[in-house]
Amino acid sequence: MIFYFAPLEGLTGAVYRRAHAAMVGGVDKYFTPFYSPGSVGLSKKEIAELDGDDRAITVPQLLTKRPAEFLTAVGQLYALGYREVNLNFGCPSGTVSAKHKGAGFLQLPDDMCTFFKEIFAGIDGVAPGMQISVKTRIGYSSEDAFPRLLEVYNQFPIKELIVHPRLRQDFYRGHPRYGSYAYAQENAAMPLCYNGDIFSLADYEAILQRFPATTRVMIGRGAVADPTLFLAIRGQPVADKRACLRALHDRLLEENSRRMGVGNNLLCRMADLWNYQIHLFAGAEQARRRIRQAANLAEYRAAVATLFREHSLLPDGAFVPPQK
Ligand SMILES: Cc1cc2nc3c(=O)[nH]c(=O)nc-3n(C[C@H](O)[C@H](O)[C@H](O)COP(=O)(O)O)c2cc1C
Repeated sequence: MIFYFAPLEGLTGAVYRRAHAAMVGGVDKYFTPFYSPGSVGLSKKEIAELDGDDRAITVPQLLTKRPAEFLTAVGQLYALGYREVNLNFGCPSGTVSAKHKGAGFLQLPDDMCTFFKEIFAGIDGVAPGMQISVKTRIGYSSEDAFPRLLEVYNQFPIKELIVHPRLRQDFYRGHPRYGSYAYAQENAAMPLCYNGDIFSLADYEAILQRFPATTRVMIGRGAVADPTLFLAIRGQPVADKRACLRALHDRLLEENSRRMGVGNNLLCRMADLWNYQIHLFAGAEQARRRIRQAANLAEYRAAVATLFREHSLLPDGAFVPPQK
């Protein structure tokens, strides 16, 4: 099985990915949250950030519907040493999809076909041998759209199709639409990767039972909640999970504070992580509130210290989605 860490904007940025790879691991590749290139491609800041990542385990993700923007950015990624890029056809955000980008592009399969024709015609000119993978939802507002979308994908030399079997209109609600993933397994011309709602070893085993042919799995929220989940699934659970979580947290706090300063942005960034990780701890709702309400770094540190001191890890702690 090949394991991917899903891109999560605001959570799995460069600091997080590097810390996770160095201190926890179990991941074959990390996909970056999306970059939206403009007419001049990626910004200097974005390029500098990507320059610090390990090319062997990092796949930059782009969000665009314009071939020229895509090709300019891919040329920059190639110059940085990247040999794979991922395209985002899944972002459900209103501002993104209103511009027919991300999951919004799924409404326009003919335009998508033209987009692919142009990028595959131009890719060798800017980035010879660059591989293109796609991360997609199964439609905008109806699953009926998926066969046509897959027909489009199948016409092109897409390296791998990562499918999060929800519609744009689902956002993250309800359950994955397994019937459409089964359709993808039967009809995709390229290797397929499953993504969606794997929060525990039991969830992973259930997916394998449902889709025994699975060879690649991408995990997002479940792995932010439990950074050791990949290792647990691989049958190599960490010996001291609490110490591992603490060490990862302390490195994230230190590196984020170096980059962001010690103001509100830092506290919000760390509190966002705790919205996921808090599910690992027993009876920690009050501790979560203290972490979120910390007014400065000292209060934040004290709230986290209390959490680690006073709350045990749940034996089967895992991410619990807000509406299910
Ligand atoms: C806060 C948040 C940010 C996300 N950012 C991205 C992103 O930048 N690019 C992307 O392709 N998907 C993004 N996703 C979707 C995830 O990569 C993933 O497809 C989705 O969460 C389902 O997988 P999971 O159930 O394992 O989390 C995001 C999801 C969340 C909740």
